[in-house]
Amino acid sequence: MFITFEGIEGTGKSTQIALLGGRLRAAGYHVRTTLEPGDTPLADAIRAVWLHPNESLEAVRAADLARPGEPTETMLPITEALLISAARAQHVARMREWLAAGEIVVSDRYADSTRAYQGYGSGADMDAIEALEQMVTGGLHPDLTLLLDLAPSEGKQRKQQGHVAGEDLNWLDQKELAYLERVRAGYFALAAAEPQRWVTLDADQPPDALAEQIWEVVQERLEAVKR
Ligand code: TYD
Repeated sequence: MFITFEGIEGTGKSTQIALLGGRLRAAGYHVRTTLEPGDTPLADAIRAVWLHPNESLEAVRAADLARPGEPTETMLPITEALLISAARAQHVARMREWLAAGEIVVSDRYADSTRAYQGYGSGADMDAIEALEQMVTGGLHPDLTLLLDLAPSEGKQRKQQGHVAGEDLNWLDQKELAYLERVRAGYFALAAAEPQRWVTLDADQPPDALAEQIWEVVQERLEAVKR
């Protein structure tokens, strides 16, 4: 079974994935928790460029691999999609191995993130995104996608609190509210188009209560597979 978590920043996906992974393992399942972009050596390198493009450029300059004094360059929406897709191609190969070995794979973000962020948020061409998705996933589609839904203003506030507590803030965390509103609306549209795959849960509740709801949904799906 391939499960993905989606949602804007600050919804607590990583906390919930850790809790779900623990519960599944305690119930005797073999589980792999993973994330995008990343989780292979090459995909992690792409993640570094993705999250910190300016620092990556500095490193390239320091290594004498770029002309000095070139201006910082804005990443185009299609470049966003291509970069993320390159990381995904590496990750899909790894996830296919885990799934073939009978593991439950739980991923923090997957192809729906590209549709929501690069498509609905950044305005990259949706046909191009869909073509890329087909190319890099080869049709590997989640069995279940949990959308942790939260108002962007609340998500931003949580991120800010995390930052005060010492967490890193990247350029994506600094996107304006309107961007995140478009991403959220995109997620709603994606969920509405495939209601059998998506389950939307309110992330504006205590983590334990949310974890309980997630566990119920996942258990139900696992039972359905066994039947
Ligand atoms: P990350 O630090 O993993 O944040 P989060 O906990 O919110 O997942 O950063 C990943 C960022 O990359 C996040 O802002 C969403 C963005 N992203 C895209 O824009 N498109 C994608 O396809 C993926 C996978 C992530």
